[in-house]
Amino acid sequence: MRKKLLSALLSVAMVASLLVGCGNGASETEAPAADTETEAPADDEGSASGGGQLIGVSMPTKDLQRWNQDGENMKAELEAAGYTVDLQFASNDIPTQVSQIENMIAGGCELLVIASIDGDSLGTVLEQAKEKDIDVIAYDRLIMNSDAVTYYATFDNYLVGQKQGEFIVEQLDLDNAAGPFNMEIVTGDPGDNNVNFFYGGAMDVLQPYIDEGKLVVKSGQVEKADVATANWATDAAQSRFEAIISSYYSDGTNLDVVLASNDSTALGVVNALEANYTGEWPIVTGQDCDVANVKNIIAGKQSMSIFKDTRTLASKVVEMVDAIMKGEEIAGLDTETYDNGTGVIPSYLCEPVFADVNNYKELLIDSGYYSEGDLQ
Ligand code: BGC
Repeated sequence: MRKKLLSALLSVAMVASLLVGCGNGASETEAPAADTETEAPADDEGSASGGGQLIGVSMPTKDLQRWNQDGENMKAELEAAGYTVDLQFASNDIPTQVSQIENMIAGGCELLVIASIDGDSLGTVLEQAKEKDIDVIAYDRLIMNSDAVTYYATFDNYLVGQKQGEFIVEQLDLDNAAGPFNMEIVTGDPGDNNVNFFYGGAMDVLQPYIDEGKLVVKSGQVEKADVATANWATDAAQSRFEAIISSYYSDGTNLDVVLASNDSTALGVVNALEANYTGEWPIVTGQDCDVANVKNIIAGKQSMSIFKDTRTLASKVVEMVDAIMKGEEIAGLDTETYDNGTGVIPSYLCEPVFADVNNYKELLIDSGYYSEGDLQ
């Protein structure tokens, strides 16, 4: 961690010129495919602790609901804390994300918060950040093989997978029922380091039942590479699943359960089932509590999801930003679990929460995350 206090003081006087340099001009012209937002904080931030320094926030895409929420939450919280924010979405395109980050660095951002598209693709651009003494917080997804990363803030992703696996064990009563039960597996983008934890956490629970023959994967597609979904895209999950249904489940064979790592892939699975499957409706897992998926949970088409309250993650990251800027230490970080190839990155893990038809109202509506109307 580096001292940022002096640069914080200097920056107050530079906000206006930074605003011009970072965000508006550079990123809009050089990365036209992506969305970009830069705004100065409101003048009357009584409790703000930041001195208007420019923080770059790089999100992977606007295509998935959660990144819009993450980006907007981060922006709002950072601005409320007195920072200026250059928020960019990279349309799930790695070169776009790299060039947006380059522009943030060139434009005077003093700290970068990055949810990477591909954890392994940012090493080179982040060398520039390191040279300029710009700290980097890896947001939700760990950035691999770069020693420019100061902190990592995420949810406990292994626990996400574990909860999905345990739900399946419970629902099928795998410890007592004779089975066998048919299961298929859909996970996410192979370049997203989180996939190792989602898939790994779930498979650590389920593999013994597969070995025992109680869970049968008729497609034979079990390895991570075979069950991955590029960019976590709903369409890609749907077409792979349509092929699975037509090859293995179109003759009256029941599919009992689909382990889907997140909601965008679960949506693809449900679309494929609705269009092509005539057997008994399977258990379908998910993660994120996206609006479309909560609606499917209410309609009985998806069995569970995992609620990752992006407001909590955003607040934690703002705390990290503040601590870095003030040269303070952050207490209570996990300093053992997340090695990005250059060493362990001190990490903060938010808790993922199981969600289903029985508790979604309390979790999502009572907490103000969604309104009743959002889910109708
Ligand atoms: C996030 C998940 C999300 C997925 C697809 C992962 O890195 O942790 O919450 O569903 O990306 O965007």
